[in-house]
Amino acid sequence: MAVPRQVRAVVPESVLKHRYRLDDRIAVGGMGEVWRSTDLALRREVAIKLLRPEYVQDEECLARFRAEGRHTASLSHPNIAQVYDYFEMVPPEPGFLVLELVDGQSLARVLDAGPLDSARAMGIIAQAAAGLQAAHAAGVVHRDIKPGNLLVSRDGQVKITDFGVAQVAGAARLTRTGALVGTPAYLAPERAAGGLATPAGDLYALGIVAHQCLTGRVPFDGEPLAVALAHLQQEMPPLPPSVPAGVAALIADLTAKDPSARPPSAQDVAVRAEQLRTAPSRPPGGGARPRWRCLSRAGAPVRAALVIAGLVVASLGLALATYGSAPAHGRSPGTHPASRQADRPGTAWPRPVASPGPSSTGDASKARSRPHGRRRSSRASSAPSPRPSPPLPAPAPTPSCIINLLGIRVCT
Ligand SMILES: Nc1ncnc2c1ncn2[C@@H]1O[C@H](COP(=O)(O)OP(=O)(O)O)[C@@H](O)[C@H]1O
Ligand SMILES: [Mg+2]
Repeated sequence: MAVPRQVRAVVPESVLKHRYRLDDRIAVGGMGEVWRSTDLALRREVAIKLLRPEYVQDEECLARFRAEGRHTASLSHPNIAQVYDYFEMVPPEPGFLVLELVDGQSLARVLDAGPLDSARAMGIIAQAAAGLQAAHAAGVVHRDIKPGNLLVSRDGQVKITDFGVAQVAGAARLTRTGALVGTPAYLAPERAAGGLATPAGDLYALGIVAHQCLTGRVPFDGEPLAVALAHLQQEMPPLPPSVPAGVAALIADLTAKDPSARPPSAQDVAVRAEQLRTAPSRPPGGGARPRWRCLSRAGAPVRAALVIAGLVVASLGLALATYGSAPAHGRSPGTHPASRQADRPGTAWPRPVASPGPSSTGDASKARSRPHGRRRSSRASSAPSPRPSPPLPAPAPTPSCIINLLGIRVCT
């Protein structure tokens, strides 16, 4: 089968640096592609994340790609996908990251099959929280916790990936002033209101992930600004009645509007979630606190600040609504090449626009050329051109999720 033109554009060789053989494409994302690959020198499977050549000369994209390598390299934890190496190439060759291959699928893909039971959900949250604790202890805030960035191996191990928009405490910002990065559906209220990314914001996102695990959908969905306002102002929708009281209480704590009302650390969340995973489930009811508890506990000053922030966001919404109705091509905000990719329809910010490249989902499952766990037989390593991959599914690729409440175009 002929190699699709778009794949040739991204992957000029099937063996990179005479060492890394690209075997199967796992996913196509906003900044590049992830391939199941073979390290021919060490004779082991790895994941290669390629930066699209058109972004190689974009300083912000390059800085972000470098940062992903450095942030991940600084972390060593069983619940974080390890980075082995990083290469910058001379354009138009793509730069690439060599990562630990997680033989499984993203949580986004897992949830495609439907919601999880409480025990499984708590097991995933406990492991993700343990990985987050390691990142936070090293001064790294992930800033884009969501199911597409949580990998679940075949034996159930969870690994956080995609530290591309992570921020190191005290480091220079990678985005222009005023920029917000992340995915709206998982954005903490304080960040939607323009506040800094903190570990508490990662915990809020984890709470949204937990809610999604149990219900099968994110609590707030739709237009990005409406979603941001909802995070600021609206109570979380109720969980199914079958969810144990302790699980509901943990999610309520994680998704508290006031960051100081959330659990004190990811470690605390990991311990609670693990206890809930193994505890016999108690029926909901008496033990569950009302869902408005966290906001009401925030106190008058916090509530007032949130309302004011909400009004500011709402007023900016008019301007962005105007922008949103403009034609996709030539639109300035949100079309930056390194825009983040939402995992599901309706979560991209801004809305997807047409692009000539391959279909892009940001999730391994959506662009997979064959099942993640399927084993290959050993192959010749010197093939001069990439292996054929089937065409990727519609819709067209959509770099997305450049978020700036002021409507400023930013690179995420
Ligand atoms: N180390 C890995 N092992 C296996 N699959 C991976 C790995 N890293 C990423 N993936 C797959 O690729 C997808 C996109 O990776 P990610 O790093 O999130 O890229 P992007 O920056 O485009 O969002 C993930 O959702 C996952 O399915
Ligand atoms: Mg990602």
